[in-house]
Amino acid sequence: MDERQNDSACQLSNDPKTSAATPRNLPDEERRRLLTAIGGVGVTVIAGCLDQGESDVTAYNVVFLDQDGRTEVEISEDEKLLYPALDAGVDIPYACEVGRCGQCTGKYDGNANEVVTHDGNEFLDEDQIEAGWLLTCVAYPRDNFELEVAHPDDE
Ligand code: FES
Repeated sequence: MDERQNDSACQLSNDPKTSAATPRNLPDEERRRLLTAIGGVGVTVIAGCLDQGESDVTAYNVVFLDQDGRTEVEISEDEKLLYPALDAGVDIPYACEVGRCGQCTGKYDGNANEVVTHDGNEFLDEDQIEAGWLLTCVAYPRDNFELEVAHPDDE
């Protein structure tokens, strides 16, 4: 379903002239029968409608420092650091992409717990994180900050 189809489906369900036909206004048993009949298509339409409007997701500015200089990247709180950085041309080595190998490590000047949340880190210990190390493949931003792209072995 493209964007226009999604828009018209959402407008249709909000149209008072057609609202009597929407599952919301039917008895529970009839709603259940209709929702079962439309199956995945209905779920897609409903999900698309929920995505419209203002987003509550916060974005942060993360400055990556690599051998080519500074690159500022806006990253949402629900995005891992690695992929938007790669898309912006930052040179970050990576391999496993699940927090195990340590290839994607970056260094923050402070306690990394103050600027990111890790989800899936299996490489860094707490002392390394408190010393500023983080894994870009499993780290979500929680503040604006600068990050050197390097590996703990380079220290
Ligand atoms: S790519 Fe392996 S830990 Fe991030």
